[in-house]
Amino acid sequence: MELLNESKINNNLNFSTRAIHILEDPKENYYKDIVAPINLTSTYLLDDLEVKENQYFYTRYDNQTRNILEYKLAALEDSKFCLTFSSGMSAISTTLLSLVKPNSIIISFDDIYSVTKKIFEQFFIEYNIKVIYFDFSEINSIEEFLNENLNENVSIIYLESPTNPLLKITDIKKIVSISKKLNNNVKIIFDNTFLSPYFYNPLNDGVDVVVHSLTKYINGHSDVIAGAIMTNNQELFYLIKRYRNMLGGALSPFDSYLIIRGLKTLALRMEKHQQNAMILADYLKKHPKVKKVLYPGLKEHKNHEIIKNYAKGFGGVISFELDLDNFKIKKFLSNLKLISNAVSLGGVESLICIPYFSTHKDVKDKEKIGITPNLVRLSVGIEEPQDLIQDLEIALNKC
Ligand SMILES: Cc1ncc(COP(=O)(O)O)c(C=O)c1O
Repeated sequence: MELLNESKINNNLNFSTRAIHILEDPKENYYKDIVAPINLTSTYLLDDLEVKENQYFYTRYDNQTRNILEYKLAALEDSKFCLTFSSGMSAISTTLLSLVKPNSIIISFDDIYSVTKKIFEQFFIEYNIKVIYFDFSEINSIEEFLNENLNENVSIIYLESPTNPLLKITDIKKIVSISKKLNNNVKIIFDNTFLSPYFYNPLNDGVDVVVHSLTKYINGHSDVIAGAIMTNNQELFYLIKRYRNMLGGALSPFDSYLIIRGLKTLALRMEKHQQNAMILADYLKKHPKVKKVLYPGLKEHKNHEIIKNYAKGFGGVISFELDLDNFKIKKFLSNLKLISNAVSLGGVESLICIPYFSTHKDVKDKEKIGITPNLVRLSVGIEEPQDLIQDLEIALNKC
């Protein structure tokens, strides 16, 4: 059996149909299975002395179940190539290690997932790779910033939008068009975890590599840690694949199967996450104990019109500032009955955390960019919104 590398699926099918049917056609497979089987084997019979190109021979390199997931994900992200990894961080670190140039500079959004920042600040710094942070939500300053900073020493631009946890939004098309004119060798990496391929396909706006934590919306059930990258660039695909095979972060067949199962309901879940987030953001912004709500779906969000320009939706994560001291915030979290105080996001159940003390605890100068001790991040699940509002109302009244 040949490896499934490049996705050649006809993307005329709609999103959910692609998620459900691609490579799971009982008429096409020998056993007439309705769902893809799990190929747990770690190694494969060789028919010659030599391992040939494009054959399954060892599961760290390729595996049929993982390949089916990758093929489906490529089709959903509207891309040619996809690779999956044992965590979002494995996808991100492998991509960065493949693309970074020795002694070069990385330009990054100032508000990104904290562990990605750690790679820049605690790992790359040792190899004389520097990072320049910029608040890319300041749309009118982007051109001036890039003109001043994007020279031939810059190897990577790293973006999220919405960012984690401040839900800042940037103008991706603007960054891509200015950057490619200034330095055509720079690679733009975009972490699309918060919107998922259902709401946005960044490769269509000229980004070079998309990364995802599959742990979040794509799997959606808080029972797998996984990551993926997608690209249309064949050279980058083989480069990152070579690094994945060396560094060893490939996803296991069993976890691949769970994600194949999870992503069949991605469209339904994303619609409900977003509907609920809208309702909760409206409720929170009127609450006297809430100082500020950051949700890109709200008209008041600084870059609401920008996200509407590039994405089909706003996602299901809300951040908000409470007008309460730490003691009362702790009481608020412990009085919640349905919503759990836990890190992570994108699962069917609502989760809440204080990034200052949890996910972004080790981020330097976090208060300067707005990650304060009273900033709350709420991943809105797909429960009934009235139940979530009641949970929040009771807990807020008690503190
Ligand atoms: C935006 C974003 N990217 C990447 C990651 C890392 O993913 P993982 O936990 O699957 O390694 C996270 C984790 O919270 C995240 O929120």
